[in-house]
Amino acid sequence: MSQEPIPLPAPTDLDLNNIQGDILSGLPKKTQTYFFFQITDVKLFRSQLVKFIPLVKTVAGVLKDRKAIEDHKRKGDKTLITMVGVNIAFSHKGFVTIGIDDSTLTSTEPNFLLGQKEDAKNLGDKGTGDIPNFVPDWEPAFLQDIHAVILISGDSHGTVDKKLRQIKEIFGLAPGNHKPSIKEVIAVVGDVRPGNQSAHEHFGFLDGISNPSVIGFDKNPNPGPKQVRAGVLVTGHDGDPVPTRPAWAVDGSYLAFRYLFQKVPEFNKFLKDHPVPVPGFTPEQGSELLGARLVGAPIDLAPFEDDAALAADPKRNNNFRFQAERDFQKICPFAAHVRKTLPRADLEDLGISIEKNRIARRGVQFGPEVTKQEKETQETAHARGLLFACYSTSIKNGFAFIQESWANNPTFPIGEKALEVPGLDPLIGQGMRKLSGTDPNNPGVELTLPDFVVPRGGEYFFSPSLKGLKEALASAV
Ligand code: HEM
Repeated sequence: MSQEPIPLPAPTDLDLNNIQGDILSGLPKKTQTYFFFQITDVKLFRSQLVKFIPLVKTVAGVLKDRKAIEDHKRKGDKTLITMVGVNIAFSHKGFVTIGIDDSTLTSTEPNFLLGQKEDAKNLGDKGTGDIPNFVPDWEPAFLQDIHAVILISGDSHGTVDKKLRQIKEIFGLAPGNHKPSIKEVIAVVGDVRPGNQSAHEHFGFLDGISNPSVIGFDKNPNPGPKQVRAGVLVTGHDGDPVPTRPAWAVDGSYLAFRYLFQKVPEFNKFLKDHPVPVPGFTPEQGSELLGARLVGAPIDLAPFEDDAALAADPKRNNNFRFQAERDFQKICPFAAHVRKTLPRADLEDLGISIEKNRIARRGVQFGPEVTKQEKETQETAHARGLLFACYSTSIKNGFAFIQESWANNPTFPIGEKALEVPGLDPLIGQGMRKLSGTDPNNPGVELTLPDFVVPRGGEYFFSPSLKGLKEALASAV
């Protein structure tokens, strides 16, 4: 039997005014800037942080914002309300620079301790040299030390840029100010895709459907995977793998950020060149089916088609379990992205809980739509992809485990038991990129895949509580 989550105490036990908003509810966004920086003057930075903290949006603040958006929509108003949400998170190098003892965060979290640049080889990223001198093929900015990131989400570039200017002023980065406490490493901007592609990632699939629903926080969850205890996402609560934490590290969460480029024209070409040969299907239908089988949801519910209506129905689109014994890839490839990243019945029916591996994904797309020229040449000419971000109380059990032990592992799930070797996650798997199961009638047939997703940067952070920010990180001088 799989492990049932222990019910959380009353919902009020989660102090929604103390937890940063992106963690539990996701900052509402049409656009989002990630401002990565180094701290160059610690004393000054800590004193300026006092002025910055009131800008930080908590979960309570996000819930209020979401209600305002709903009320506005209900009035039939199609314009966007001016809205902005700010969060902040620190890397291990950032805590060390500030002089905070973060051993409570590093002792059980080797990935956080290393930092993502040093961890990149373990994640499967391409690069040169060996650990500890491995240099991943990343954007040069991400090869620098990153101490912290400020996330700014909002309704428009105008709103977000204005807030970023205000923040830069606080930390002495405004033009003409000669005494900054921080140095910009890079600012990356993500945008929700336009028109009817909104909520879809760049390959064209609806994204952000399945995120952990939290006991005591998410009321009336849609049918889907088991709810998780709050401590899976928020430190210091039931489900946190670390039983006790110092006060400043309670009500926080680890943030894994990945700068993932997507080769969309190449992906589309691959689908076109490899339609699933289902009798009676046109090549276009076969190509669409291949795309749906590579992602895997909701193919488990509609094995022979990419069913857009089903995909858009929140009461149905997450209500599947991958019934391993039954399907043997007839219904869904073992290696399909959603099956790799949340194997549901594949593990739960063996009595293995997947609660500790859950992550709250908060990514946003970046880069332009595919141009006419790129469609013609079937080659990427403009950088685009996903600013992948996820929260959990363990990077080791969450992001890094999913990437290394599931996505990059050809025998997962149900390796030895299966008639066919599953292969790698066709979207994010790194290594010998092949998978079986794309043809439901011949599941043993393997496809070899080029890279469609290329990591070009990233870092691991910890997003402290408001109290943690005020009492441990900031200091008034
Ligand atoms: C550019 C890269 C990526 C693309 C295009 C992508 C796309 C998608 C899509 C279309 C879905 C299904 C819709 C949904 O449930 O929200 C999904 C789900 C998911 N992805 Fe990704 N993803 C990417 C990277 C990653 C990475 C790096 C991870 C973690 C290592 C990850 C973990 C997950 C998880 C956990 C789910 C939900 C699974 C479930 O609950 O059933 N994804 N992704």
